[in-house]
Amino acid sequence: MLVLLGAVGAGKGTQASIIARERGLLHLATGDLFRRALRDGTPLGEVARGYMRRGELVPDEITIRMVAEVLASPSARAGVVFDGFPRTLAQAQALDALVAEHGTGISRAVLIDVPEDVLVARVAGRWVCPQCDTPYHLTDDPPRQPGVCDRDGAALVQREDDRPEVFRARLREQLPPLDDVVAYYADRGLLTRVDGRQPVEAVTAATLAAADGDILP
Ligand code: AP5
Repeated sequence: MLVLLGAVGAGKGTQASIIARERGLLHLATGDLFRRALRDGTPLGEVARGYMRRGELVPDEITIRMVAEVLASPSARAGVVFDGFPRTLAQAQALDALVAEHGTGISRAVLIDVPEDVLVARVAGRWVCPQCDTPYHLTDDPPRQPGVCDRDGAALVQREDDRPEVFRARLREQLPPLDDVVAYYADRGLLTRVDGRQPVEAVTAATLAAADGDILP
């Protein structure tokens, strides 16, 4: 049960996808689940739409219920890498209770630390796969064939909430509650900070070392 924390565009999705594949874990990304619900036109997607468009967090109650459903499914039994959850203190506390119900606990929380000016450049250059949600970057992490997903061949798109005004709102609305989550895991001796400005492979290596207990908090 590995938690990846970080600001908008810090690289949580990039790392969670690699680590889940390498370690045979479920990649549980709340942002991806909301986007999928939106694409499928479900009631959950309709509720999430307004919050996401404004760069606000979806209310805790809705988000926690969605995560609880996934955790109760057989796909979560081999272990989970959480991407973008928890994002508030209430979510962190709820996650502890949920994993305890399944007889386990959070093994480590890794904060992918990236300064704000780098985040701006990352989000500006991000293209994502509309089918599998894999993120790419025009210059820093490009697909093998320009504009095409390496995994399923779909044409890449830009995210609606990466528009500059929504991106600024996401930073403003979402960074203060994230600080509470970081403090929550630090107080429990579970937090490791990783320098997220490094190349993708170096961030993966540091995150895995933290998950394996090879580097201390
Ligand atoms: P979500 O999809 O989770 O968005 P986010 O947290 O804002 O994170 P991002 O997906 O923008 O960035 P990331 O850290 O995954 O970075 P990535 O790997 O793509 O959430 C969307 C919305 O859903 C929220 O705004 C909210 O409304 C709602 N929501 C989601 N979870 C919620 C929750 N728990 N509670 C309430 N509401 C919730 O990388 C970014 C770019 O950088 C890419 O182009 C990538 O290729 C590139 N890159 C990555 N790593 C590197 C590197 N090391 N070097 C160079 N480039 C890199």
